[in-house]
Amino acid sequence: DLDIMKVGIDLIHFATSDYFLGMDTFAQEKGIDVNKYYVGIGQEKMSIAPPDEDIVSLAAKAVEPILQQIDRAQITAVMFATETGIDQSKSAGVFLHKLLNLPSRCRMIELKHACYAGAAGLQMATALVKVNPQEKILVIAADIAKYDQDSSGEATQGCGAVAMLITQNPRILEIEPGSGYFTDDVMDFWRPNHRNTALVDGKYSTKVYLSSLKHTWEHFTEQTGRVFEDIDYFCYHIPFTKMADKAHQTLLKKVNSQLDKAQADAKTLPSQIYNRIIGNSYSASLFVGFISLLDNVKDRLDNKRISFFSYGSGCVAEFFTGVIQPGYQTVLMSESHRQQIAQRTELDYPTYIDFYYKTDYAQSDLALPQLNKGRFRFCGIEQDKRLYT
Ligand code: HMG
Repeated sequence: DLDIMKVGIDLIHFATSDYFLGMDTFAQEKGIDVNKYYVGIGQEKMSIAPPDEDIVSLAAKAVEPILQQIDRAQITAVMFATETGIDQSKSAGVFLHKLLNLPSRCRMIELKHACYAGAAGLQMATALVKVNPQEKILVIAADIAKYDQDSSGEATQGCGAVAMLITQNPRILEIEPGSGYFTDDVMDFWRPNHRNTALVDGKYSTKVYLSSLKHTWEHFTEQTGRVFEDIDYFCYHIPFTKMADKAHQTLLKKVNSQLDKAQADAKTLPSQIYNRIIGNSYSASLFVGFISLLDNVKDRLDNKRISFFSYGSGCVAEFFTGVIQPGYQTVLMSESHRQQIAQRTELDYPTYIDFYYKTDYAQSDLALPQLNKGRFRFCGIEQDKRLYT
């Protein structure tokens, strides 16, 4: 029976780069009070990818521990969400295919709409499994957030990849039917094909984000009949943690919530712990936030309802919910997440500039020095073909 069959996230794991830039270093270099970042923006560190790390190597790191727990021959599709794609034609998942020894009887597709595509992939994979319960689908969201040097966005960079296995009878989260969505053609953030870095109308983007939240909430409540009190924890897209705080405040105001500050904070702050020290990972950010919630809430989350607000500039947004499955804690990979973050090397400012702004990826031949310490690495380009090990 399709109505009672549960579908959702069976396993989830994330990866980030091996380096970070402290916002203290950043503030000192720019001659700005560090509290603008610690308090005003709500960020302490941002993960920085070396030249030999890209969305494919990040994704491989995120997926590998999941494949160690299942028979990889059973994967029927890979939906790869990214807005920092590496090829205009070939999907990023196909590069992963060889690296991870995925089966040939498997489909690959790349999904794009700014930070929204990860949520789109999750919803589409859920629908596909409902139609054919034999499917086991990998949804990957991976991005490297890069803005111009000295632009307003530079303080809100970061990178990361989240891999989710979508199956029937999921062990972590059942995705619930019914969601609210909203689209509007706006230029708040975009990256034309000729650019490596994104362009942004920063202040405007924060306003569109919040108005999209209100629109999706209205649609969500109409579709599902649910009210604010039905939701136990709130995950928002996190370009920087202060944005998620503002989103939560906006929703509290909209529903005229009577919660005091401590009660309201408890419903959303655990989802910001990792993002505060990773930075924006675009399509992955919402799910890094979800992982942060799973790893950091001390009470058991069994049967709790979690909401997800996905916002992709440009803009497309969606608000939906899921229910945590009893026993979820036994399949979390929390230790791996903590290690990923803890093992990063701190960069000084000149090295960060070298990493981000000095490599010309448009070259037809490019040999990259080994800086990425992980098992999977983007080695360079030969005759316009990207090489990985
Ligand atoms: P800015 O001009 O650098 O910063 O831009 P500001 O001057 O507005 O200051 C930021 C906050 O810090 C302010 O608080 C200040 O008062 C405070 P607010 O008014 O916002 O509440 N502040 C201080 N607080 C304490 N001590 C101090 C201090 N100084 C200042 N000493 C901006 C900020 C977010 C615009 C910029 O970082 C930016 O352009 N970021 C990129 C765009 C972005 O992330 N937008 C978010 C919404 S869009 C989105 O989420 C989609 C996205 O992920 C992309 C996608 O979908 O693909 C970006």
